[in-house]
Amino acid sequence: MSKVLVSPASSFSLSIDSIAADKSISHRSVMFAMLANGESTIENFLRAEDTMNSLEIVKNLGAKVSDDGKIIKISSDGIQESFEVLDCGNSGTGMRLFCGLLSSANGHFILTGDKYLRSRPMKRVTTPLLSIGAKLDGREDGDLAPLSIRGASLQAFNYESKIASAQVKSCMILAALRADGVCTYSEPELSRDHTERMLTGMGADVVVEGLQTTITPMKELLKPLTIRVPADPSSAFFFAVAVAITEGSSILLEGVTLNPTRIEAFKALERMGTDITYILTDNKYEPIGDIAVKYAPLKAITVEENISWLIDELPALSIAMACADGESLVKNAEELRVKESDRISTVVEGLRSANIEVHEYKDGYKIVGGILKSAKVDSDGDHRIAMSFIIAGLKCGMEVTDLECINTSFPNFFELLQKITKVELS
Ligand code: S3P
Repeated sequence: MSKVLVSPASSFSLSIDSIAADKSISHRSVMFAMLANGESTIENFLRAEDTMNSLEIVKNLGAKVSDDGKIIKISSDGIQESFEVLDCGNSGTGMRLFCGLLSSANGHFILTGDKYLRSRPMKRVTTPLLSIGAKLDGREDGDLAPLSIRGASLQAFNYESKIASAQVKSCMILAALRADGVCTYSEPELSRDHTERMLTGMGADVVVEGLQTTITPMKELLKPLTIRVPADPSSAFFFAVAVAITEGSSILLEGVTLNPTRIEAFKALERMGTDITYILTDNKYEPIGDIAVKYAPLKAITVEENISWLIDELPALSIAMACADGESLVKNAEELRVKESDRISTVVEGLRSANIEVHEYKDGYKIVGGILKSAKVDSDGDHRIAMSFIIAGLKCGMEVTDLECINTSFPNFFELLQKITKVELS
């Protein structure tokens, strides 16, 4: 599967109850199970490459895992030194959170990943960890994987992060749980908060006040996690954009996390004119429900606040911006440059090749709404770039290459897309 030809779609109306499970929550569920005093139960775990790598890693760290294909049960007698190199594949979340978990574990560990992950910055976690006594290193003075970690005693800290990153925050919260005193972590804007919600649900003393989190180290192991992972709003959002650019269409996206730190892209699409409603159906660890999306003409917007709440959805949102009336602006989004690809460049290049006028800035871009035209776009190995331009194909037809990456987060993407249009894979 290296190339897809997507045909333009006519109006459609669908309900989808099989959007891929949430990636962030799936990673965390298997890692946090290692901190519990009994068997954790995880239903609807995301069976995609990134999260299956995390599951494999916790097995290598000595967790006992049973999996009947529906429910994964995990118990652990504490983290064991691994015989294997721990391979996070394409996942920054995996690598950065495991740094926090392993920096206080007994033993020596090597974390690696694919060629894309081995080029992504790790100093954002290695620097604060080193400053509290962790022993870890990597290429380029600890910035690039492979990383080596020798578990050590960690000191209590008050860390003020310069970036709003849930990966850095989660890494430091995991380190704090085993530090030698009460720790605080603050960030410039609230980033996604699954770690705080899940650990609190497991009985950890993690208190959030505004932008500051206070963590009291664990006195004993935590309560096991019992979770059904909701659908991933970042994956669901591709289908929201499909509706937003296809006149007369509507969709019901079922069982999605409605955590406010995750649905900002849907709010942005609402500001652009799309009709969106949220139906709360459950509340365990976080609010969960259905999202109903209905087509309405799109108008341009500026996106400059709460960027970390929609950072993963900006490539797909940019497709809606390309189809909107007027000039849309994305600002304060420099973090896009260090995602699975440099997403400012990949979005700008992809849209330009599809006949859209785009102006590139250091921290974002301006998109002049116009007529999308069929083009050939390479994903640069980035799942969200691949899926965004495939969705653009619903408007005008599109050829997208380098598709294996879609398996990192949304293995049934094409199966769902085929409900909307003709898809030729080769
Ligand atoms: C994630 C946090 C975000 C996001 C990534 C998943 C997480 O990254 O882009 O896809 O699960 O913590 P940053 O925290 O680096 O912004």
